[in-house]
Amino acid sequence: MIAQTPPMGWNSWNTFGSDIDEALIRETADAMGSLGYRDAGYEYVVIDDCWALRERDKDGYLVADPAKFPHGMKALADYVHSKGLKFGMYSCAGLMTCAGYPSSYGYEYRDAETFASFGVDYLKYDFCFFPESGNGRQAYRTMAMALRATGREILFSACNWGREEPWRWMRSAGAHMYRSTGDIHDTYASFTEIVKSQADNFCMSAPGCYNDIDMLTVGMYGKGLVGREGCNDAEYRSQFSLWCLFGAPLMMGGDIRSLSEESRILLQCPGLLAIHRDEECRPPYQIGTNSSFWYPGAVYAKLLSGGDLVIAAYNQSDKDTVPLTIPFAELGIPNNIGRGLDLTNVLTGEHIGVVRDYYRANVQKHDCLILRATPTRL
Ligand code: GLA
Repeated sequence: MIAQTPPMGWNSWNTFGSDIDEALIRETADAMGSLGYRDAGYEYVVIDDCWALRERDKDGYLVADPAKFPHGMKALADYVHSKGLKFGMYSCAGLMTCAGYPSSYGYEYRDAETFASFGVDYLKYDFCFFPESGNGRQAYRTMAMALRATGREILFSACNWGREEPWRWMRSAGAHMYRSTGDIHDTYASFTEIVKSQADNFCMSAPGCYNDIDMLTVGMYGKGLVGREGCNDAEYRSQFSLWCLFGAPLMMGGDIRSLSEESRILLQCPGLLAIHRDEECRPPYQIGTNSSFWYPGAVYAKLLSGGDLVIAAYNQSDKDTVPLTIPFAELGIPNNIGRGLDLTNVLTGEHIGVVRDYYRANVQKHDCLILRATPTRL
């Protein structure tokens, strides 16, 4: 089965945009192995938009730009596979890709065969220049069917930015993940807006198909195509922790050949990645919203297989440090019921111990405390 747990990998767009070539992809595949990403679970190396020539060939086939990919896509796919990784590419459901390259509208079966012949294992499928007369749902169904018809296992990553509420229908169309928001930028405001807009839309995420809240910006620090003002390490901790807790696909968007040590350790944090790949893939829910006092953050929780909970206390305020309260009653453990939670800080590994009724933590500006909680008899 494809996507038994939410997909993980790297995508060229956030940092490199159109500035891509085969050396970059080879070096990224090398870094996935030598710097520990592959062993941590990152699997797909995906080339986004701008890989093709501006015109199809005379027989109507897509052609890789020989200036960027002189040895062709098949050789590049072989190289990526030789590193124990999977190879991804990009097309679009409309008349042109977002950057103006040939797109698959009306060519779905032919292009799916082309991708399969390259050795592609993952196709991201965008939605730019989609004709007004067209039917978006049908277009995604068509490419899903065309990919299946190739006989090759190809993960179908739909990207229509949330049009027509894809969480309601992309699973039925055959996608394995579906972008539910516009494009992320490397800013605190951008990813926080994405989190807020999608926190309630994960109820249809489950093995085989997941809500995709866009590629990560962890480690970009403002560099690259979607760089903008960048984020600091506390903000990257929040971004990555929330993507893991939500069970969203983890497609890294930084230059993994040279990420800071702090970012690499975060992206490979075993405790967070275990939460990410929890087999029951339950959606998150928000607590703390019933409090009578003003609540400066967001507290998300999720039930894990085996009975533990994971809790994220996210300081969304602009105050340096705020106390965030986690009321256990809202997690299903009423006060004075003779039960508490045995808490561990997932990122630091610190064992906090057994706590009853509520836990109050000081969380610095834009940071996120991630706790793993085991229900315990007092
Ligand atoms: C859209 C997508 C991005 C990226 C670009 C490429 O904006 O949402 O993720 O693929 O197109 O042009």
